Amino acid sequence: HSAEAQRTDLMTITRFVLNEQSKHPDSRGDFTILLSHIVLGCKFVCSAVSKAGLAKLIGLAGETNGEEQKKLDVLSNDVFIKALKSSGRTCILVSEEDEEATIVEPSKRGKYCVVFDPLDGSSNIDCGVSIGTIFGIYLVNDHEPTLEDVMQPGKNMVAAGYCMYGSSCTLVLSTGAGVNGFTLDPSLGEFILTHPDIKIPKKGKIYSVNEGNAKNWDGPTTKYVEKCKFPKDGSSPKSLRYIGSMVADVHRTLLYGGIFLYPGDKKSPNGKLRVLYEVFPMSFLMEQAGGQAFTGKIRALDLVPQKLHERSPIFLGSYDEVEEIKALYAAEG
Ligand code: AHG
Ligand code: MN
Ligand code: MN
Ligand code: MN
Repeated sequence: HSAEAQRTDLMTITRFVLNEQSKHPDSRGDFTILLSHIVLGCKFVCSAVSKAGLAKLIGLAGETNGEEQKKLDVLSNDVFIKALKSSGRTCILVSEEDEEATIVEPSKRGKYCVVFDPLDGSSNIDCGVSIGTIFGIYLVNDHEPTLEDVMQPGKNMVAAGYCMYGSSCTLVLSTGAGVNGFTLDPSLGEFILTHPDIKIPKKGKIYSVNEGNAKNWDGPTTKYVEKCKFPKDGSSPKSLRYIGSMVADVHRTLLYGGIFLYPGDKKSPNGKLRVLYEVFPMSFLMEQAGGQAFTGKIRALDLVPQKLHERSPIFLGSYDEVEEIKALYAAEG
């Protein structure tokens, strides 16, 4: 592929997904249509986020989902619910912003269930720091959709991804055959393939955790973070990078290597991150990129959720780094 040919051979996310679809001859293109509606939602939120400060979209919505909801939380939720319903390819929608699952009306139902965090990193909206959207997709058998259809382990997901609204708008996606990153070209309004076949480095020099919770950590987490800061084998200490938006912290971990952890602690034994639409999609991507994701007890994708919004501790990132944490938790037995 000459540079010239490369430049004019635009691989858009739509073309990429169609290529994937052609590998499944029996496919009727439902997934492609579903994904195009998710992409539409991401483009809309990207534009709303970039205007947030100007369009008075910052600040509180005055509603809560157990945490205070920001205006942009509520707006992006509305956008995704509408986009997903109008795709005609979904039957159940689970959002961080809605206490109950949304059952799509029969005339618009399809075979997919989408779990999503419409706006991740809300605490960073008002100061203009990167935020994002996280989503996971399950296939649901064609019957009257019930909540049981959603209570599936993350390993059953057929696709997962996130869109990060930062200096550029980057969508990272896996449909179960590796991980690919696309960057929005605002002049075209298209996501262009910029990070083909992402693989996370086997080791990394960065650890990412909210050290402010250190007082409440358990033994293995405390030991692991101690090891990052005061390595005994004479290697140099790791750097700490913590943005406070899971999408941004995970994206950096995926590209640079290292470890992201939101452990459980004495105050919140299940940590803070939600299983269905934060832990599962990010764990799916990490494994597809050659990394690992661990809950402190089991492989994160093996977890079977009992409740829509349940939380789990999560340790994810470079293969070797997660191995170290698994050994520390195994030793504590
Ligand atoms: P959300 O904004 O969707 O509620 O998610 C926020 C999460 C996640 O983005 C981030 O990793 C974590 O909160 C940060 O939590 P702390 O501020 O407790 O570190
Ligand atoms: Mn929230
Ligand atoms: Mn979130
Ligand atoms: Mn959120």
